[in-house]
Amino acid sequence: MARGFFVSFEGVDGSGKTTQILRTEAWLRANGVEPVMTRQPGGTAVGDRIRALLLDSRTEGLDAKAELAMMFADRAQSIVEVIRPAIEAERVVLCDRFTDSTEAYQGGGRGLGAELVRAMHGLVCGELMPDVTVLLLPSMEVALRRARRRNEHTTGASEGRFEAEQDAFFERVHAAYRAIAEREPVRVVTIECEGNELAVHREVITKIEPRLRAAGVLR
Ligand code: TMP
Repeated sequence: MARGFFVSFEGVDGSGKTTQILRTEAWLRANGVEPVMTRQPGGTAVGDRIRALLLDSRTEGLDAKAELAMMFADRAQSIVEVIRPAIEAERVVLCDRFTDSTEAYQGGGRGLGAELVRAMHGLVCGELMPDVTVLLLPSMEVALRRARRRNEHTTGASEGRFEAEQDAFFERVHAAYRAIAEREPVRVVTIECEGNELAVHREVITKIEPRLRAAGVLR
């Protein structure tokens, strides 16, 4: 393999993203590639503590810009500890969420705007962006239904702060993801995932396999 390869997975809550990452990991392994798995927020010792604070529904009154800064604090740590070393070691990185999440949730959902998020990305992350981003985007209606169902199941759990948001918040997140996909159609592979898990998995592989081959990750 010529160099490392960075893949991020994105989507609204309840898009089936975690399942699809695990399936992609299994597929890579079956093809002889051992990926580095990580997620944001989280994935480092510091990041796990930031994640706990950000996602805990008992965290009250967090200012949108403070939330934005914490997402990037987590990301800075993840880049130094996990992503850059993995890329330099010529590994494939599968990252559950990256800056597109911040653009969608803090930029769109919280209304801070894409420009501020992208400026902050430049300051904290420099040029680093995923080689490919798999964006799982069910229709707004399906996404809201799934998010609500998850919300019911996670009531009282410590990770529900975002899932407890109102529909209008998720509509803004969804619209921001659409805008990213339209702006960067090469990096961002969008999958309108209404179908079953296996059908979505097949579509993910169909779309990313040629990229992995072109990069020399797969022979
Ligand atoms: P997860 O459950 O998919 O790991 O995502 C955690 C939550 O954090 C999810 O609701 C989206 C949110 N989030 C942001 O608001 N901004 C970000 O930059 C990231 C990475 C996640």
